[in-house]
Amino acid sequence: MTKPVIRPRRLRTSGALRRLASEIRVNPAELVLPMFVREGDDARPITSMPGVVQHSIDSARRAVVQAAEAGIGGIMLFGVPDVRDATGTGATDPKGILNLATRALVDEIGDALVVQTDLCLDEFTDHGHCGVLAADGHVDNDATLERYRDMALAQATAGSALLGLSGMMDGQVAAVRETLDGNGFEDTAVLAYSAKYASAFYGPFREAVASTLVGDRRTYQLDPANRREGLREAQLDIAEGADIVMVKPAGGYLDVLAAVAAMSDIPVWAYQVSGEYAMIEAAAAQGWIDRRRAIEESVLSIRRAGADAVLTYWAVELATWLKEEQ
Ligand code: PBG
Repeated sequence: MTKPVIRPRRLRTSGALRRLASEIRVNPAELVLPMFVREGDDARPITSMPGVVQHSIDSARRAVVQAAEAGIGGIMLFGVPDVRDATGTGATDPKGILNLATRALVDEIGDALVVQTDLCLDEFTDHGHCGVLAADGHVDNDATLERYRDMALAQATAGSALLGLSGMMDGQVAAVRETLDGNGFEDTAVLAYSAKYASAFYGPFREAVASTLVGDRRTYQLDPANRREGLREAQLDIAEGADIVMVKPAGGYLDVLAAVAAMSDIPVWAYQVSGEYAMIEAAAAQGWIDRRRAIEESVLSIRRAGADAVLTYWAVELATWLKEEQ
C-alpha cells in the first residue's frame, strides 16, 4: 500500500505550528463598532440584539472610552430621534441627536479612534425610507441627494471624520464629495456602502433604530441575486471619489466581497449586520453553538474573503479576546 508523501496535516500538528502557519489574523485596529444613540437620559436594551443598546449620549461617552481602551479602530454612529418627519429634518439640524452625539464623542475621545457617522435619512423620516418621497410615493433620487449634501455638511461640522453613505442613491458619493470640497471639508473622508443588498438580515436593526418603515428597500438596495451589479456599484463609487468601499451584509456576500477586493485599489470594508449578530447570539443562548468560536470564525471569514476592516457589533468584545490571545 502506498503511503501519502504529501501530508498537509504536518503544519496542523501543534498549536505553535498552526499559529505560525496562519495566513491572516484579525487585529483590534481593523474593527469598527456600530453604536446607536437615542435622545433622552437613559440607555435602552434592544431585544433582538442581546448585549447591544440604544445609548444615551452619556452612556455612549463611557462606551467610546471603553472601545478605545480595547484598541478598536473606530465607531459608526446611528441616531435614534424622538421626532421624525417627511424630509428627515433631524438629520441636518445641528441639534439633531446624531450631530449632537458626534460632537460629544469626538470631544470625548479625540484621536484615539475614528468617529464615523451613518449618512442616510431612514432614521429621521416618518416613512422610514432612506430618501425623500415624490408625490407618487417613490423615493426621489435627486431630491434625496440635496438632503444628503446638507447632511454631509452637518456631520462634517459636528466633527465626523468619515461619512458612511448608506442610502444607495445614484450619484451620492459625487454629490457629497462636491459639497464637502466646496465648503472647506476636503479632509473629511467618504465610506461608500457600495454593494448594499436589500437583505432580510437587517431585521433587528429596525428595532435598534425604532424604524417606521413599511415595505422594503428593493427600489434602491441591490437584488441579492446580483454579483456583477455589486461590482459595478463599487466601481462607480471609486470613480466618484469614495475613499473606502463597503460590502453589506458580510456573511452571505463573501463572493461579492472577494470580487470587490480583487479589483479595488482603495480599502474594502464589510459590515457584519444585525441579523448576522442575532443569529449567532440566539443559537449560542440555546447552547447550540460555541459563542466565542462562532464569533471569531465569522469575523475571520470576512477578513479572509478580503475585507480590510469589519464593522461588527462584537468589535469591543472580540478585540478584548484578541488581546488576551497575544
Ligand atoms: C441605513 C442602514 C441600515 C443598516 C445600516 N445602515 C438599515 C437598512 O438599510 O435597512 C443596517 C445595519 C444592520 O442591520 O446592522 N441607515
